[in-house]
Amino acid sequence: MNLKALVKENATLKSVLNHADVAVHIVDTDGITRFYSKVAAEMDGMEPEEVVGKHILEVYPSLTIESSSLLKVLETKKAVLNHQQTVINHKGRAVTMSYSTYPLFYNNEIVGACDISRDITRIKELSERLLDLQAELLGKRNSAARKGAAIQDSVPVAGARYTFNDLIGRDQKMIDLKVLGQRVARSGSPILVYGETGTGKELLVQAIHNAGPNRQGPFIAQNCAALPATLLESILFGTVRGSFTGAEDRQGLFEMADGGMLLFDEINSMPVELQGKLLRVLQEGAFRRVGDHRLRKVNVRVVASTNVDPLAAVKQQLLRLDLFYRLNVISLRVPPLRERPGDIMVLAEHFIDEYNRLFGMQVRGFSEKVKYLFENHCWPGNVRELRNCIEHAMNIVDGPVIEERFLPAHVTQAQGGGSRPAATAVSLSKGLPGAIKQLEKEVIMETLEQCSWNISRAARRLKVPRQTLQYKLRILGVAGGALREAPL
Ligand SMILES: Nc1ncnc2c1ncn2[C@@H]1O[C@H](COP(=O)(O)OP(=O)(O)OP(=O)(O)O)[C@@H](O)[C@H]1O
Ligand SMILES: [Mg+2]
Repeated sequence: MNLKALVKENATLKSVLNHADVAVHIVDTDGITRFYSKVAAEMDGMEPEEVVGKHILEVYPSLTIESSSLLKVLETKKAVLNHQQTVINHKGRAVTMSYSTYPLFYNNEIVGACDISRDITRIKELSERLLDLQAELLGKRNSAARKGAAIQDSVPVAGARYTFNDLIGRDQKMIDLKVLGQRVARSGSPILVYGETGTGKELLVQAIHNAGPNRQGPFIAQNCAALPATLLESILFGTVRGSFTGAEDRQGLFEMADGGMLLFDEINSMPVELQGKLLRVLQEGAFRRVGDHRLRKVNVRVVASTNVDPLAAVKQQLLRLDLFYRLNVISLRVPPLRERPGDIMVLAEHFIDEYNRLFGMQVRGFSEKVKYLFENHCWPGNVRELRNCIEHAMNIVDGPVIEERFLPAHVTQAQGGGSRPAATAVSLSKGLPGAIKQLEKEVIMETLEQCSWNISRAARRLKVPRQTLQYKLRILGVAGGALREAPL
């Protein structure tokens, strides 16, 4: 296949690539540019005409066969993934980009290479600024600590606000979790925390930090999904001047968290390659800044959290098995709210007290209908959803009691709320047995829908054994692919 002809003829492909928000650069096997997108032109500060039809080394004289990833990929036929580079473009602007370069094959033969890059200059600047601010903040706290200012054993410092007293819950599962959390706080072993979104993972981790021997040390949380893969490495390990153009001597989070705790939120979003480096730090207690040869030792307790089942993440190759084993030395599961229904009203009342204090109000409680709605809601967003729901109600409540009309629509409607058709709306053409069957089917279907077609969850909510629900579904003639057996 002739790549030149293909790109020339395929106007649709060209148009799509020109509208993508990444820069696309395609060369044929001779290293001649056959496609160069508008974003690529902007990033390099050139016009497409200056590049298309010319050899890579002619256009970028500073590159060599070794340093050009497109030429390297043509030679090795292997993709180069998630690399970072800072270059001075043709307009004199320093551009930091994250790029991946792929070989292009046709009938098992290489026909060219394609480079996809993203301008991350601004994100890099912002994340470095964030690192500097964090270092400044920690520096201030440390000097306050040295002066003995306001830091007592029981007071959380350096980023972690919550203690076990803030972890509200009376359900046995939560009591067990708190006991376990307090116990594991004593050591420095890694911890893996698993729980659906909004269940209180970060709150638990902060409480563990503040109950541990290093509570006066820093607590830093980094969301692994929030930054491009290429930046994450320098954010974690720091950089030394000149390790790549534009790099400066800068501490990473590991050094900043020395003597404290580092939480990797959404660990399953951390690039697998970087997971390998993290594992090495966990095993050796030492790491190197990006571009440095010097090994630095730190004493950091590493905690990772995930809102997907860690074993499922391992199966999908989002989490390295060896890292999973290392982190899973202590594993804590925060149960979703629907598995601890007794906590719903306890938490709801706790949040009323909190917002009463915050807003200077005197709301006393909830109407019976609201309690019913709360106890029957699935709470897919867990405690965060409940807190937001109370905040919403506290903003618009009129009087001492929160009634149904003050709740957000998604909570009332998800229940069928006041809008559930009354039994009289059910057809009596087949008499009472027929009407009951129809109503039963409606209730089951509605519950299944609210529980994302998860049979186990719907059965719990309907307060019937799962087998009973399955039997009823068969009798009612409901089957099919939307139904899920395993809990989400
Ligand atoms: N047991 C609890 N007692 C009091 N407040 C709680 C509890 N659990 C969670 N919260 C509150 O719910 C909100 C969400 O908690 P948190 O951020 O710890 O959840 P998360 O599991 O880390 O969520 P995500 O997976 O989305 O990051 C916070 O406002 C937190 O204070
Ligand atoms: Mg969190």
